[in-house]
Amino acid sequence: MKIGIDRMAFATTDQYIELTELAEKRGVDPNKYTIGIGQDRQAVVPPTQDIVTLGARAAKKLLTPDVTRRLSTIIVATESGIDNSKASAIYIKHLLGLDDYIRAVELKEACYSGTAAIQFARGLVALNSQETVLVIAADIARYGLNTPGEVTQGAGAVAMLISADPHVLAIEPTSVSYSRDLMDFWRPLYATEAIVDGKYSTGVYVDFFKNTLTRYLQRTGRRLDDFAGIAFHLPFTKMGKKGLEGVLQDRDDAVANRLRDQLTASQVYCRQVGNLYTGSLYLGLMSLLQNGQVKPGDRLGLFSYGSGAEGEFYSGIVQPAFAENLSDVKEDLADRHRVSIDEYEQLFNSQLGMQTADVQFDLQNDDAPFVLAGQKDHQRIYQRR
Ligand code: COA
Repeated sequence: MKIGIDRMAFATTDQYIELTELAEKRGVDPNKYTIGIGQDRQAVVPPTQDIVTLGARAAKKLLTPDVTRRLSTIIVATESGIDNSKASAIYIKHLLGLDDYIRAVELKEACYSGTAAIQFARGLVALNSQETVLVIAADIARYGLNTPGEVTQGAGAVAMLISADPHVLAIEPTSVSYSRDLMDFWRPLYATEAIVDGKYSTGVYVDFFKNTLTRYLQRTGRRLDDFAGIAFHLPFTKMGKKGLEGVLQDRDDAVANRLRDQLTASQVYCRQVGNLYTGSLYLGLMSLLQNGQVKPGDRLGLFSYGSGAEGEFYSGIVQPAFAENLSDVKEDLADRHRVSIDEYEQLFNSQLGMQTADVQFDLQNDDAPFVLAGQKDHQRIYQRR
């Protein structure tokens, strides 16, 4: 039985900044951001949006009466949780008006947990092929104003249906997971911004990619030319290039150049949105499917990485109806509006964060289908439009 990704949809915020403007404000050469790091724009998060509203917005695009009837489980993969106890999946389930007879949980391991969620979902579908599992990878990447990581912030969610007879990608049985106890990026419970050793993290990512890919090739007997393309976790687009070049080295043959071209196609959306943490690999996959040279029957590799650290390399076969089962990311990105760096800084500093008092946000400037209206008696208040 084929099991894999049946449909995919993306959502981000309605605001963005131009990184050349940010570079000017920070006194940095814009080429460092656009070429050195490889990012052009960054999603800006108003206080009225969080992983629940973004996750619900992405998932809503996938729901039809038939899908809703088959849903057994919602798994939200995130490292931007809004509660240390209650799962964001429960809030999302409520906002989407889904049946109460559904399992709803949240999963965490930095940027890796979206992949764990997909693998666990495969297991559930293998036990009962009638079930569909909704996996939502939603995050807000927040490093802080004027920090080296600021240029690699971003926000958004990718929602995926995992089912039998999938329409987008049939996941192949072999996958290689690799985990080690490392401190390259983490966020203590008292912090709203991540702590990152960026250079160290970059080295670990490259090593994990080499390790997991090598083991995958040994186990399957496949070679690099068996892949039409490889999608990478993209905390910033240069990271994928470092991973791929770490394996290709000086190769200049047709296979190596095809993988380089496909990497460029997979980076198109990340360049416009920034880091989605758990969703980045899957936005990269959507970008590869919508902007790359991909046809049904092609094998794609997927490299997932989460700091702390865990990596996984696995593969899937592109399905005939893949193009019609992806949301229109280009349209979503074109519909956003640009804000100034001053506005971005003001929005950055007006998040709910660790506040304990009651808060009521002004909702006039947010037209999104789901909004965070504020906090009352230590409870987040959401609204569905
Ligand atoms: N023109 C073109 N490129 C330039 C440049 C310019 N004017 N100035 C610098 N660069 C290049 C550098 O050569 C470097 O390229 P390289 O990495 O290929 O060598 C790149 O831009 C970054 O410059 P660097 O000085 O290393 O930047 P930094 O010290 O500000 O840190 C990060 C960059 C990425 C480490 C930092 O933004 C960070 O920590 N981000 C978060 C990391 C992360 O997401 N970790 C999780 C991984 S999964």
